[in-house]
Amino acid sequence: MRRYILGGLAALAAAGGAFFFLAPYNIAASVPHLPGVANILHGYLGNAVAIRARSIEVPRQVDLQDPGLIRLGAGHFATGCLTCHGAPGIPRNPVVEGMRPAPPLLTSEDYDAKEFWWIARHGFKYTGMPAWPGEKREDEPWALAAFLTQYDSFDREAFEIASFGEAGGYDSAGVRFGGLPGAIEPELACARCHGEDGLGRDGTAPKLAGQSEEWLVTVLEAYATGHRESGFMEPLAAPLGDETIAGIAARYSGMEAGWQGRPLPIGDAARGRELAEQGDEHNDIASCAACHEGAGPDGLSPRRSDTPRISGQDGYWIYNWLKMYRDGPVPTSPRAHLMEAAAKPLSDEDIADLAAWYAGRDGGKRSDP
Ligand code: HEC
Ligand code: HEC
Ligand code: HEC
Repeated sequence: MRRYILGGLAALAAAGGAFFFLAPYNIAASVPHLPGVANILHGYLGNAVAIRARSIEVPRQVDLQDPGLIRLGAGHFATGCLTCHGAPGIPRNPVVEGMRPAPPLLTSEDYDAKEFWWIARHGFKYTGMPAWPGEKREDEPWALAAFLTQYDSFDREAFEIASFGEAGGYDSAGVRFGGLPGAIEPELACARCHGEDGLGRDGTAPKLAGQSEEWLVTVLEAYATGHRESGFMEPLAAPLGDETIAGIAARYSGMEAGWQGRPLPIGDAARGRELAEQGDEHNDIASCAACHEGAGPDGLSPRRSDTPRISGQDGYWIYNWLKMYRDGPVPTSPRAHLMEAAAKPLSDEDIADLAAWYAGRDGGKRSDP
């Protein structure tokens, strides 16, 4: 009996070796699959996504209907997906049509929000469909889920306004929405997400106007060198040289802060205030105000120029960033360990309350009731 098993195994190994070295299966992308094979492969892919997406929950800070989040998803789609998939009203490049499988034109029909999140987060092996570039930033791909579930309602003009800030922006954004010296690729334009006034285009991206030059250089260098993970910002910051970073930082820090944070529908601002100002000795929570407030015309900027302003930043970013410093991926920029220590003892409730307080803390400049 043992002889037969050993003989069988040896024959299998020989067949495997022959297959490997003689390579009879033609991997040429130019040769179509046998009839039905592509359908089977795609069917398997759909099942694999559906099964894995079933247990995912939409995080509480995420509102998939939020126009800001949808714009951010469209904005990143222009950075990271359009080259392969085309976009509403923008055809695919003939080069990618030679891929097998070719990246399909997308539609909201095929998947739900959790499935879109899973696909944007994980990608597909052996297809060219990439995983999310900020490997552990599980918060970020929700913007893509928000956009893709609305994909069919966009035409070219609406897509360009969302992702580039103006109709026709796919062609001209590099010039008008640049924010960078000289002519640049449209998808590198900073203002298409952060706004020409640096105020974040009403919740599309964090506010930058009036942040210190030093902080802006620190965080941009951190994205550019992989010391702070973000699938949105790493690909955009990586090609920027030191001089460009310095120029951008000077430009945004010179803009007037005038921040009005967008609050989240969760969190108790009064309790957030208490925590922020006094900390909580029993739970090892430091006072946030000691580091993040006390300077500037409204007293709401930090005293040290290497610390970011957070008063009046949108609740969404404060929430996501506190979770990032607490749960990882913790940035490895020079002073990030201070925030890791400050965030470690916070509960989810503390984080929601602090986000509520700081989003509403804008120096009394709020004009809406
Ligand atoms: C380098 C090319 C490439 C890039 C860039 C790319 N994809 Fe894909 N994508 C593919 C390919 C190829 C497939 C097809 C996989 C298949 O059908 O087997 C695919 C499949 C998909 C699907 C499933 C479509 C379907 O009909 O089943 C979605 C959704 C998707 N991609 C979203 C995105 C998003 C969102 C981005 C940007 C974050 C992106 N892709 C970036 C190549 C790409
Ligand atoms: C597709 C939209 C998009 C574009 C385009 C974009 N950003 Fe961002 N930016 C974001 C998002 C989203 C974040 C938050 C990332 C995170 O959570 O770490 C961010 C974060 C930042 C931060 C850190 C803010 C802080 O206080 O932590 C800086 C600085 C920044 N971006 C500068 C730039 C510059 C400079 C450019 C142009 C080269 C640019 N961004 C282009 C979306 C964008
Ligand atoms: C010891 C000083 C210190 C304390 C205390 C502190 N922070 Fe920070 N905070 C920093 C520094 C420094 C950074 C920048 C870290 C980096 O380089 O990634 C930061 C970053 C942040 C960010 C990210 C801002 C951005 O623009 O990316 C948020 C949000 C934040 N802190 C909120 C808080 C809250 C809420 C508390 C109170 C629980 C707190 N911090 C306590 C020093 C502090």
